[in-house]
Amino acid sequence: MENSIGVFDSGLGGLTVLKELARVLPSERFIYLGDTARVPYGGKSAETIIRYSMEIANYLIRTHDIKLLVVACNTASSLALPTMRRIYKIPVVGMVDPCVRRAAALRRKSNIGVIGTLGTIRSAAYEKALLAAVSSVKVRSVSCPLLASLVEEGWTDNDITRAVIAEYLSPFRSDPPDALILGCTHYPVLKKAIREFIGEETILIDSGEEAAAVVDILLSETMTRSKKKSRKVEFLVTDDPERFGRIGKRFFGREIRGVRLATLQE
Ligand code: DGL
Repeated sequence: MENSIGVFDSGLGGLTVLKELARVLPSERFIYLGDTARVPYGGKSAETIIRYSMEIANYLIRTHDIKLLVVACNTASSLALPTMRRIYKIPVVGMVDPCVRRAAALRRKSNIGVIGTLGTIRSAAYEKALLAAVSSVKVRSVSCPLLASLVEEGWTDNDITRAVIAEYLSPFRSDPPDALILGCTHYPVLKKAIREFIGEETILIDSGEEAAAVVDILLSETMTRSKKKSRKVEFLVTDDPERFGRIGKRFFGREIRGVRLATLQE
């Protein structure tokens, strides 16, 4: 699908990002690839994540001639983006910079929280970018590895999930941040439970919303964009298309049909 935007994630979670992209860019065509055979990325090494990300990017460029790539996975964005930006000619948009751009534009921003997978937090990608963009900011980062599995289980609003959120976010209890970056694809689905814990004062920054805004700007500034409403979304996975369609609608907010298997190796 020439002239389309490639979007990839370790699995289902990136559908929260695709949902925002499709909402903001109703005329664009999207090809989404979920690496369901190798999910989760959250606990894997940087070397492995860079290799996986490049295999997927190469595949999407080779088979679909994409004009832009969105790395919808926060872990892959944190670990592989600098390498990918060096290698590919097409623009590569990750999740870190758009969230930091939003944080930097806030009026109150002296105290920012970041939550994500182990790999995202260990990389300190958000922290470094925040410190570079916002002067004298205090950044507190917490990894919440169990949350993604709870969301995939459909446990988004029950006592167990609320207790896990309370435990992970306990460092913020006595001093809630001005903004909390939801640095993982799965966390937008938990916004209600996170909001209940953190209170009304903290701004929740959603990677999908921020990335969609950045892609929108990029398309208007640098590329021709389709005028007529002709949105088309194609779904590819590396394993189990049936599960992707069934669980994916929880993330995407509507039915997912026609999921196909992709073989990354030539
Ligand atoms: N997509 C991942 C992220 O945003 C979460 C799931 C995983 O660990 O693969 O970091």
